[in-house]
Amino acid sequence: MSAGIYLHFPFCKVKCMYCDFYSIPKREDEIPKFVETLATEISLYADSHDINWEFDTIFLGGGTPSLFTVKGLELILETLDQKFDISNVKEITLEANPGEAPYEKLKAFRELGVNRLSMGFQSFDADLLTFLGRIHNPDDCFNTFKNARKAGFDNINADLIFDIPGQSLRKWKKDLKTLVDLQPEHISAYSLTVEENTTLFGLVKSGKVKMPSDILDFAMFKHTRDFLSQNNYKSYEISNYCKTGMECKHNLHYWNLDNYLAFGPSAHGFNGEMRWWNVRSLDEYYKKVQKNEPPLENFEVLTKKDNFNELIFNGLRMVDGIPIQKLAKLFSGDLDVYLNTKVGKWEGLKISENKVMFNEKGVMLADEIASDLFID
Ligand SMILES: C[S@@+](CC[C@H](N)C(=O)[O-])C[C@H]1O[C@@H](n2cnc3c(N)ncnc32)[C@H](O)[C@@H]1O
Ligand code: SF4
Repeated sequence: MSAGIYLHFPFCKVKCMYCDFYSIPKREDEIPKFVETLATEISLYADSHDINWEFDTIFLGGGTPSLFTVKGLELILETLDQKFDISNVKEITLEANPGEAPYEKLKAFRELGVNRLSMGFQSFDADLLTFLGRIHNPDDCFNTFKNARKAGFDNINADLIFDIPGQSLRKWKKDLKTLVDLQPEHISAYSLTVEENTTLFGLVKSGKVKMPSDILDFAMFKHTRDFLSQNNYKSYEISNYCKTGMECKHNLHYWNLDNYLAFGPSAHGFNGEMRWWNVRSLDEYYKKVQKNEPPLENFEVLTKKDNFNELIFNGLRMVDGIPIQKLAKLFSGDLDVYLNTKVGKWEGLKISENKVMFNEKGVMLADEIASDLFID
């Protein structure tokens, strides 16, 4: 089974008002110290575990990994190369913020082997970007995209967000059209989630900000699916669209419940039986690694039931659905009877070529149907 490696880079220039990822502003001067610590964590882990997985993806996420220095990224990739067999890695993704990834740096990253860039555009509307607390403007998106192409990136993802307070369907249609005109290979279109512990959460709770209605959310989601499919972007996962053959291999590892290693504060790893995660504090992370300790916060051992439910939740989000054989290994009882009953109940669910999957109706009710398939 192929596997991935995730590295979490926690620094950001500012904290966006909706973001609950582990990202910290105003500590960029610590980047060299962090990079050294990250390299040490990778070495410590590799020296104390016997890992012979077939790695084919590396994902540098954040935070804002485009703030890595070229030397810093080189050290991390060299460390991975010394400690694991990464000779079969086909995809190295780096998340880049518009306006925070100059051409020279992108070129150097490309030369180091990064071959997929994921850009957080979020919107091309200046007012909405300001509302979200982003520090880039629409022109930064176009310039960074152009620079990435010039630097040799032929596999680019762009993230857009819908359901932003103040965003009309017309504005969303305009954003999608603008993005399609740029022709990235991959598009992620997420609806804005109100996460606890964010500024947005406080504003919504106090009634100062109102989230868009379910009707508008539905209309935006439906338009996204229709418009992107008319423009030759296949929806291979509910929020992810790509040109033929340009799926994100690393994210497919998550959704298929494949193995992945994880390094950096707050990063989560998985080995098929156990999930573990690192401390969500940069200072704790430094302290533990400096003492040659794993910077672990905790771990959980997944039961067959947990794995079944996770496979249902993640697998049904993919257009290809879930191989029934994979579910059968995790289910005690008659799976055919179980699934056929659910297919009878939900018009949006179907079985085809030994896989269980959504049809277009199911996609619109994804969470509801998936939870009905969970086992206790
Ligand atoms: C955590 S960011 C890291 C990459 C980069 N710093 C950026 O902002 O694009 C990865 C993606 O998650 C999205 N994201 C973060 N919080 C979100 C939320 N509450 N709702 C929807 N998308 C969110 C971001 O907008 C971004 O596209
Ligand atoms: S959305 Fe991206 S840039 Fe904004 S705080 Fe989160 S990780 Fe940083």
